[in-house]
Formats: sequence, structure tokens, C-alpha cells
Amino acid sequence: MSYRIIEKKEIAPIVHLMKVLAPDVARASKAGQFIILRIDETSERIPLTIADFDVREGTVSIIFQEMGKTTKQLAKMSEADELQDFVGPLGTPADVRKLGTVILVGGGVGIAPVYPQVKAYREAGNKVISVIGARNKDLLILEDEMKAASDELHIATDDGSKGHHGFVTDVVKQILDSGEDIARIVVIGPPILMKVAAGMTAPYGVETIVSLNPIMIDGTGMCGGCRVSVGGETKFACVDGPEFDAHKVDFNLLMSRLALYRDEESRCLEDHDHKHDPDHKCTCRGEN
Ligand code: NAD
Ligand code: FES
Repeated sequence: MSYRIIEKKEIAPIVHLMKVLAPDVARASKAGQFIILRIDETSERIPLTIADFDVREGTVSIIFQEMGKTTKQLAKMSEADELQDFVGPLGTPADVRKLGTVILVGGGVGIAPVYPQVKAYREAGNKVISVIGARNKDLLILEDEMKAASDELHIATDDGSKGHHGFVTDVVKQILDSGEDIARIVVIGPPILMKVAAGMTAPYGVETIVSLNPIMIDGTGMCGGCRVSVGGETKFACVDGPEFDAHKVDFNLLMSRLALYRDEESRCLEDHDHKHDPDHKCTCRGEN
């Protein structure tokens, strides 16, 4: 079985949206879940959070940033090309219910997985305040979609080119300091953002949820590759998560485990970038 790409576009520099025909995955998808794809039988398996799904069209959208060899290969694929595997939906769906006012925070590429949650929390009857941020205005993704789906949208850029000049966490702090009654905060983005957000919201006593992105292999609880420590207990992000109580996550362990294969990843990427150079000797698994 293969999965046809029916739409592909670059939505920010090196950030791509891909809509894939996968009716069974679309039918079963819920906000907060992810898929694992493989380009062909020799490729690495990569987990990506579902950015949108359309049951009528039978499509699932993913958004990814070109970071390593596989995402660079994925970025070169076009409409009508086919992916070998597209497995999902995986993970436990987000616990979306009517709570009151919720703040949904997306940092950088993390805005993509926040988008289906914004829609789900609003559909469940919540007031949704979205806060999105990026290094600069050109890297902000899904701004129009987030605006349409939220009751309020706040923007932050690190360089001040749009919205608040600073981090998304500054904006969340301002909202908390305004005294508005916030029932829950959901934060998705780079691990350092989630760590800083967890530390910032803890003194306010507001429930804070993060979506963790450790290294994943099988995505079904078999390999242990995605283990994280939450409240002193080992959890598998692929089946117990990916969402967890931010105030209980050991972010330092998450970040050190994410860095474990950095040397291999850089070597692989270097091999991929030199694959047309006849004098270059491949040092990664061989298949480029
Ligand atoms: P980035 O580094 O550009 O940061 C995006 C935003 O996060 C910043 O604009 C800022 O508002 C906030 N932020 C960053 N550092 C912060 C800090 N120290 N304190 C407070 N706020 C901070 O992000 P990017 O390059 O788009 O993101 C790439 C990373 O996001 C990758 O590591 C990727 O794996 C991760 N990611 C995670 C998920 C997930 O499910 N958790 C989903 C997509 C991407
Ligand atoms: Fe293997 Fe989670 S990815 S146990």
C-alpha cells in the first residue's frame, strides 16, 4: 500500500505542508495524535504530529521543517508522488473538553500541531486564546487559519518584526497577570520553550500541558526509544502521550536524549548533501 501526496507547498522558508491521501487515517484521527511515515523501504521512520485532517476528502496534513536527511528528501517530493508508509493515527488523543478559557501556545513549527487543538477546544465550547511565535514574521505559519479558529490571537516574534517583540511565554505571562481566569494552557514547540513555559506557569497554578517530541522508532510502545520521565515515572511518549502535565516532565532528560544521536544525524545529512560528489564516501547506513 502507498499513500499519494495530493498537495505540497512551502509555507515558510524550509517549512512544508503536505496533504496525503490516507482515508483510514483521516477517519480515525483526533487532535493531538501523530503519524509515522517512511518515504520508501530504505528510509528512516519519522513521527509527525497531524496538523489537520479531512474525513470527507480522506486526507491528512502534515507540516515539517527541513532538518535532517529524511525531511530534506521529503521536501523534494511533489504532488502525485507516493509515500511507502503512513501509519496512524498514533498516540493518545488530546484530552479536549469544555473547561472555560484556554490558552493554546505554538512556537515555530509547533504552531502546526496546535492548530487542530485550537479547533477542537473551540468546538468543545471553550474560549480559545491562541499565542503563536516565531523567530521572525516570515517564519510564522498558519496565521490566517489560527486567527479564524481562535477567539483571540496574539503574535510574538523574537526580532519584533510582527506583534510582541519577544517570546510567546512573555505574552502568556501578560495574559495571566491580567487576571483573566485561565483553566488550562497547552504549549507545543521546541523543548526549551516547553521547559520555560512550564517554569513560568507553575507559580500561577494553572494546569499546563505539553506535547513531547522524543526520538521515536516503532511508535507503538515496543522499542522504548521514546521514553520520558514524568513525575518520576518512565512513560512512553508514543502510547502514554505525546501530551503530559508540563509541571511533571523532566525536560533536561528529554533534551539530553534528543541530543544523543546528533553526531550521527549530522554525518547522515552531510552524506546526503554530498551524494552527487563521486569522491565522497558515505559514512551513514549506506542508502543515499
Ligand atoms: P524556534 O527555535 O524558532 O522557536 C519558536 C518560538 O518558541 C520562538 O519564537 C519563541 O517564541 C519560543 N521560544 C524559543 N526559545 C524560547 C525560550 N528559551 N524561552 C521562551 N520561548 C522560547 O522553533 P522552531 O525552529 O520552529 O522549532 C523547531 C523545534 O520544534 C524542533 O526542535 C522540533 O522538534 C520542535 N517541534 C516540536 C513539536 C512538538 O510536538 N513538541 C512539534 C513541532 C516541532
Ligand atoms: Fe518505540 Fe515509543 S517509539 S516505544
